[in-house]
Amino acid sequence: MSSTIDSILVENRIFPPFPNLVEGAAISGMDAYRALCDEAERSPGEFWGRLARENLNWSKPFTQVLDESQAPFYRWFGDGELNVSANCLDKHLETPTANKPAIIFESDDGKVTTITYKQLHARVCQLANGLKSLGHKAGERALIYMPMSIEAVVAMQACARLGIIHSVVFGGFSSKSLHERAVDVGATLIITADEQVRGGRTIPLKSAVDEALAMGGCEAVAHVVVYKRTGGKVQWHPERDLWLDDLCNGQPEVCAAVSLNAEHPLFILYTSGSTGKPKGVQHAAGGFLLWALLTMKWTFDAKDSDVFWCTADVGWVTGHTYIAYGPLAAGLTQVMFEGVPTYPNVGRFWEMIQRHKVTVFYTAPTAIRSLTKAAETAPEYHPRKYDLSSLRIIGSVGEPINPEAWMWYYTNVGGERCPVLDTWWQTETGAHMLTPLPGATPLKPGSCTFPLPGIDAAVVDEAGGPVENSKGGFLVIRRPWPGMIRTIWGDPERFKKSYFPPELKGVYLAGDGAQRDADGYFWIMGRIDDVLNVSGHRLGTMEVESALVSHELVAEAAVVGRPDGTTGEAVVAFVVLKRALPEGSEADDIAKQLRDWVAKEIGPIAKPKDIRFGENLPKTRSGKIMRRLLRVVAQGETVTQDVSTLENPAILGQLSQAH
Ligand code: PRX
Repeated sequence: MSSTIDSILVENRIFPPFPNLVEGAAISGMDAYRALCDEAERSPGEFWGRLARENLNWSKPFTQVLDESQAPFYRWFGDGELNVSANCLDKHLETPTANKPAIIFESDDGKVTTITYKQLHARVCQLANGLKSLGHKAGERALIYMPMSIEAVVAMQACARLGIIHSVVFGGFSSKSLHERAVDVGATLIITADEQVRGGRTIPLKSAVDEALAMGGCEAVAHVVVYKRTGGKVQWHPERDLWLDDLCNGQPEVCAAVSLNAEHPLFILYTSGSTGKPKGVQHAAGGFLLWALLTMKWTFDAKDSDVFWCTADVGWVTGHTYIAYGPLAAGLTQVMFEGVPTYPNVGRFWEMIQRHKVTVFYTAPTAIRSLTKAAETAPEYHPRKYDLSSLRIIGSVGEPINPEAWMWYYTNVGGERCPVLDTWWQTETGAHMLTPLPGATPLKPGSCTFPLPGIDAAVVDEAGGPVENSKGGFLVIRRPWPGMIRTIWGDPERFKKSYFPPELKGVYLAGDGAQRDADGYFWIMGRIDDVLNVSGHRLGTMEVESALVSHELVAEAAVVGRPDGTTGEAVVAFVVLKRALPEGSEADDIAKQLRDWVAKEIGPIAKPKDIRFGENLPKTRSGKIMRRLLRVVAQGETVTQDVSTLENPAILGQLSQAH
């Protein structure tokens, strides 16, 4: 993150909000922003209560806004009832939105399918009726392992409609990861597809489900519902497998939304932590939905005329909040894309913005960085070659956006007329937390600027004490907010330990380092734990290490991150084999085997970019691996730190040799 730190010292460019966006914005001007912040601070209960009443339809109104009696297990609107799907779909049926496109879906090969709110409602109801007919009901857990598709959103919404708690597993995860999640949530239902298509290639999904179920331990899975995406060959288990179409055809297009307690879990989404297995982050229906909708309005300044496009996959939280729920609750038309930004050429994103007249575009710094490079080598696909004049807001999410990438995005995609919204948030926070507001905040390239109203963010030291501006510390949130994580599924102790450590006295610990500059702007400095961010995807170093050591050739492994110009961070693995040190092509072969192994164990995103073999690892005399030194070695730098506490200092030389 050193470039971000340097930039704080030199970054003095400020971009005031554009007058055309200030006018009519949901939060118009910094005074309006401060007024909302003050309202939240004066009386958080009234503030959140007012917003929840104004923005959501309640089947049973709540009387208590926040119950802190079991803190940090907070309950929001805990005696109220509502249904998330009804708030995303049914509420539009009697309005002009009913016949407006809800989703404009573009497939990998460019085929466009549009579905209106009314049609989407009907499809969701049919699937919900189908699932009901199979006996599935509120409180059960369903895994959704789907390609980017209208059907994926239908599946999530149908679950929400019935109160079935969904856990979406990114289609790039392996059968092993799928199995781990199916067991952990105790799934009774899996919704998947035969195959997915990305960049002109088909990738099987159903067979991964078959493999996962064959691993045992998930006998509770009674049905596997399969969306036929390609018609590719699949193995069929008639006692549990059903085609999605067969299940839905002939079902009534109306299905009453189940009235659920606001605290009923809406979904569980697995994300990496610094230790152990991925954690199942549990979100609650009422609070999550409120936060998703409010951030659509505040951050993206959602307007009826918008065409919104979030390029994330529904397998990540960004795809939950800003594809499956937020845009629908806001009644927007959104673009959804099956493929990858580089197929059939690197102009795909820009061409799609032009074709669908996208007004709000939301993507990840990794995509921006790789398309920046691509535009240099293939100038015919440079964003300037396309008509991007429909854009009014462009956003960034998932990792720090370095000032250079920010400026490129601002200039070439935004045409110097669109604010770049660098949104900081996490799977655990449900939706945006720190972000500029398009009609209010003066921007600084590389800063996520200020917290949203109601979000009490601060930078503190190890003891929870305040840190003055321009000094680094831990990013914390001092007050609960409705969209926050409720617990880690099945592991409340881990929830407390991870996010509310006693030394910080009850504040939420985000796991990121941060610093405020002299003007109070927040700058995120990256994770403070052993979590890597590769292309905006969170990855625990421990997970990759466990995968490596489960390979028969590996005795020991240590994984660290290395800054990478495209993916933000890259995985570097230091490996001790159970055999003699390999050399030359043999080392290449083993490295490839290990990479493939990690892809199989976790998924291709976890593949180490660089594998270094050594006879052992740098350890202290008490046997602790010195990761700090490995990080230096991974960057190709010379270790200048004192290594006298090392058991085996000579090993650093061996590991420095890039393989
Ligand atoms: O380190 C922060 C980084 O991504 C982490 C959260 O990852 P995940 O739960 O997968 O959610 C990603 C999508 C919200 C954070 O702890 N991160 C996310 N957004 C930013 C960021 N780092 C810097 N700037 C951001 N805008």
